[in-house]
Amino acid sequence: MTVYHHFAQVYARGYYPEFSQALAGLLPGIFEQYEIPRTGNLLDLACGEGSFALEMAKMGWSVAGIDQSEEMLRLARHRATTAGLEIEFKQQDMRSFETDRQYDLITCWFDSLNYLLRIEDVQSAFERAYKALKPGGWFIFDMNTIYGLAIEWQKQKCYVQQETEDLLELHQTSYDFEKRMATMRITWFIRNDEIWQKYEEIHFERAYSVEKIKNALTTTGFSFESVYGSLRNLTPVKQDSSRVWIFAQKKSQ
Ligand SMILES: C[S@@+](CC[C@H](N)C(=O)[O-])C[C@H]1O[C@@H](n2cnc3c(N)ncnc32)[C@H](O)[C@@H]1O
Repeated sequence: MTVYHHFAQVYARGYYPEFSQALAGLLPGIFEQYEIPRTGNLLDLACGEGSFALEMAKMGWSVAGIDQSEEMLRLARHRATTAGLEIEFKQQDMRSFETDRQYDLITCWFDSLNYLLRIEDVQSAFERAYKALKPGGWFIFDMNTIYGLAIEWQKQKCYVQQETEDLLELHQTSYDFEKRMATMRITWFIRNDEIWQKYEEIHFERAYSVEKIKNALTTTGFSFESVYGSLRNLTPVKQDSSRVWIFAQKKSQ
């Protein structure tokens, strides 16, 4: 069973969707600085349960989303239908997705690219994104840094992520310095009447240096435009930045 199957329901009811909803609020101001159009065709890679896609569709973007998890996509489709928004959500792997449209903007948020455990897989995702963009189109994404996974994530090795009357969600983290891989064991208990049922998923994430990411982007053909340590303040990356925000463009020929 892949990750984000049973966990999709827990993800959708926690704080997680707020991350990309907040991004949707920040982006219009940033688009102005980069002369990115205020609307157009948008593809959200690893769109999850659709929060970002929905926010952007409300702003007038024509949106599509892909994700590997059918359960996340089921929630996304339900949310779009309930909101009366037409968004195409398809189950595809971002390393190999096909699309018959070309996009003005492609996004990929909230650790999703860290789930690709080899730089070759990241490169494949970049190549697919490049192919799916119109000339002049933008690819914007975030990734956890090595510092983020190896240091920040490990500051609390075990903690309660969500606790309500019928849900208890626990996270346990570890980092393997030899394999340069972070593990998050997510255990949760859901109450059904008086019975608590236990579930578990183990998530692996890997981070790459900005140099490696830049190299994979430029090898693909992208122009590497900017990297920030904070999207809210557009500040540079520091040694202790736990996340990077990257802007790449497919230049017009
Ligand atoms: C932390 S969630 C982020 C979801 C969404 N982008 C958000 O901001 O809420 C990571 C997502 O990446 C998806 N994912 C992981 N590997 C993937 C792959 N190879 N192709 C497509 N989706 C993938 C998972 O199914 C999950 O929905």
